Amino acid sequence: MSIKTSKRADKISKSPIRAVFDLAAGNKGEYINLAIGQPHFDVPSMLKTSTIRAIEEGSNSYEQSIGNIGLRKKIAEKLKNKNFINADYNNIIITSGVSGGIFLALSSIIDENDEVIISDPLFGMYKQILNFLGAKIIIHNTYPEFRLKAEKLKKLISKKTKLIIINSPNNPTGMVYDKNELCKLAEIADKFNTPVLSDEIYEKFDYKNKFFSIGSIYENTITLNGFSKSHSITGWRLGYAHAPAEIIEAMVKIQQYTFVCAPSLAQKAMINNININLSRNIAQYKKNSQLVFKEMRNNFDLIEGEGAFYAFIKIPNKNFIKKAIEKKVLIVPGSAFSVRNTHFRLSFAAKTEDLKKGLDILNSL
Ligand SMILES: Cc1ncc(COP(=O)(O)O)c(C=O)c1O
Repeated sequence: MSIKTSKRADKISKSPIRAVFDLAAGNKGEYINLAIGQPHFDVPSMLKTSTIRAIEEGSNSYEQSIGNIGLRKKIAEKLKNKNFINADYNNIIITSGVSGGIFLALSSIIDENDEVIISDPLFGMYKQILNFLGAKIIIHNTYPEFRLKAEKLKKLISKKTKLIIINSPNNPTGMVYDKNELCKLAEIADKFNTPVLSDEIYEKFDYKNKFFSIGSIYENTITLNGFSKSHSITGWRLGYAHAPAEIIEAMVKIQQYTFVCAPSLAQKAMINNININLSRNIAQYKKNSQLVFKEMRNNFDLIEGEGAFYAFIKIPNKNFIKKAIEKKVLIVPGSAFSVRNTHFRLSFAAKTEDLKKGLDILNSL
C-alpha cells in the first residue's frame, strides 16, 4: 500500500548537499570534504563544561517557547553593543538553530502567493520553505559580483512584496554586504514598508571587517543569528531571532505547537559563553580564505572572499564536479543555491593541509 504525500511536501526537493554527504558516508577518510557547511573545530572546552553542568544541575526540562530569559537578555545586550540594534529581550525568541528561525519567521509572515524577493545565489533552505508555503519567489540576480543591486531591487519591489531576504556574510558566495549597500536596501524597502529578513549566521566570519547589521538602521528587520557555526555546535540546534513584537508573537505561537522550545540545556549553557573568544578559529579560516584565492585565481574565475567559509567558483569545464568527485574531492553544484548551474561551492571549513590537497586536485582538473 502506498500513501500519497501532501502536495505541500511534494513542493520540497531533496537537498543536493545531502546527496554529496551521502556519497561520502561510510567512506570517511577516503574523500577530501570541501562540501561541508560546518567548522572542523572542536566545541570550545568552556562551553562543553557549561553544558555538562547544565545537564547535571537540571536544565533538562521544557524551556519557555520564547526561550530562556537569561539568554535572551544576554543576546539583547550583544545586539545593542555589537550590532547597534535597538534590541529588547521581549522581542527575541530562541530557536532550534537558525533553520528553526527561518521556518518560524517565514511561516509567521508569508501567505500563499505572497511575493518574496531573494538574492540569487542563496542558501537553499529559503527557496524550499518558500515553496512549501506557496510563496511567489522573485529572484534578485546578484551575478557576477554577488553584491546587492539597488537599481535591480527598485524594479523588483512593489506593493505586492511581502518580504526581502538577505544573507551576509553570504552562503555560498562569501560576500559581505557593506553599510552603503545595506543603507540603499533599507531605503528601498522602507518606501514600500517591506520587512527585511537578515540572516547573519556567519557574522563572526568577517575577514575584511565589513559586517554591518541592517537592523541597526531599519526597524522593520527580522534579524536571525545562531551559534552552530561560530561555536561549532551544528548538532545542538541553537539560534535566535530579533524582530518587531507582532512577528515574535506569531513565531512563539508557532513554536509552541511545533518545536515547543529550543534545546534547554544548550540555552542554559550558552548564557555564559555567548561572548567566548573565538578569534583563533576565525583567524585560521581567514588564512584558508586567502589560500583559496591565491591557489585558484590563475585557473578559475572567482572573487576574493570576504566572509563565511565558502567560495563560489565558476565551473571551468564540462563534467568538472563529477571529475572532482571521482578524484575524491567533494564540492557542491551551484544549482543547490541558484537558478543557474554555472558555479560550484567550495567550503574551506577544513584543516589547511586537507584544503591544500583538495585545491591541488581541483587545479589539476
Ligand atoms: C545562511 C545559513 N542560514 C542558516 C543556516 C542553518 O544553520 P543552523 O544550523 O543554525 O540551523 C545555514 C547552514 O548552513 C546557513 O548557511
